[in-house]
Amino acid sequence: MTIKMTLVLNTLESDDCTEQINALFADKNEEIEIINTADLKIMHCMGCNNCWLKTPGICAIKDDYEIILKKLVAAENFWVVADTKFGFIDYRGKRVLDRIVPMLNMYIEIRDGWERHQLRYHPLNFGFIYKGNGNRELLEEWSMRVARNLAGHSLGVISLDKAAEHVIIINGSPRVKKNSNTNKIIQAFAEGLEKAGITHKLYSLSNHAEWDEAREAFMTNDNIIIAVPLFVECLPSLLLEFLSTLPTERKQPAKLSFILHGGFDEGHQLRLGEKFLQSLPAQLGCSCGGVLVKGGSFLLRNRENSYIKKMTDKMLASYTTMGQSFARNGSFSSSEAKKFTGFEKNPKIGILLFNLIFKRIVKKNFERIAQEWGCTEPLDRKPY
Ligand SMILES: Cc1cc2nc3c(=O)[nH]c(=O)nc-3n(C[C@H](O)[C@H](O)[C@H](O)COP(=O)(O)O)c2cc1C
Repeated sequence: MTIKMTLVLNTLESDDCTEQINALFADKNEEIEIINTADLKIMHCMGCNNCWLKTPGICAIKDDYEIILKKLVAAENFWVVADTKFGFIDYRGKRVLDRIVPMLNMYIEIRDGWERHQLRYHPLNFGFIYKGNGNRELLEEWSMRVARNLAGHSLGVISLDKAAEHVIIINGSPRVKKNSNTNKIIQAFAEGLEKAGITHKLYSLSNHAEWDEAREAFMTNDNIIIAVPLFVECLPSLLLEFLSTLPTERKQPAKLSFILHGGFDEGHQLRLGEKFLQSLPAQLGCSCGGVLVKGGSFLLRNRENSYIKKMTDKMLASYTTMGQSFARNGSFSSSEAKKFTGFEKNPKIGILLFNLIFKRIVKKNFERIAQEWGCTEPLDRKPY
């Protein structure tokens, strides 16, 4: 038997997202079979173990799942399409996966360093397509684990929900817009959104005249991003004041996501701020779209010097990429967003190098900037 076909089990209600699902597979150069399980009778696996120990390979439940098992035996790639509940695949989707057990047998072996059941047939690659508010990071890891149990690889996790078409972005920095590093980050990020066809409206809290409108936008939009610099380990007091003026009850559900950045390079400097931000959406009646975390933003606004400009251009371009990623994933829960932080803590060798570079280059750079700002005093002078 040739094993080349792709089996897609669509567990959504009939007609739901059918066009979108078909479009995902339309230009694939492989044999595809899409089965709508809503038309079939499929029960939960009851854990009887008959398929391993009594009638090997044959499920004890006599329903329509046998049709699927026979297709799986001829498949190379296996996709499940499902709704999400509690951020995870819903029970209808999980039900067709729990019944996959007869594809393995009772024997156990060590594969890729883990105890695993032997394959009854051949490796299967696995992918997951979902609707709704799934926990992207969890689903990606889960899909990879399922695939490894089947000795295949993850085909990926795809959201069927159209990313938002419009996003409200609030700049939570007290620094005036034209000097704000956060504003530079937002501009670069929004360029990425725009490339993906998503519009945005920006409100800057440094301008009190924008507060009423920002509050109104916060209460009436369903996709909100607050971009904020780290101030003394957490949020600037100005943003805390703005948040205190928001009603905690809202009529419309919304997803609240954050871009958190700070002066120091190390990721761990931002982790308390991140923890606080993660706790915030629920307190404001919103769901959490995650926190994008990155340090090293201090010099973004000093772009006259060509060396600094080159460095900061690179960082801003990476924020544009993250704008595109947000447009694709609808949140900062993706693995690419997690990786974006970069290094967590300076390694020892890095500290030596840092001390050397700090004395030679960074210190000189600060002194040069101070000079340009008209400062005539030593930067470490003690006025009191
Ligand atoms: C009062 C104050 C406190 C700050 N505290 C921190 C901090 O705890 N950790 C950090 O990495 N950066 C800290 N920073 C640096 C800012 O987060 C960083 O310069 C950021 O790029 C400023 O963005 P903005 O220009 O939009 O305000 C602080 C800056 C200020 C003014």
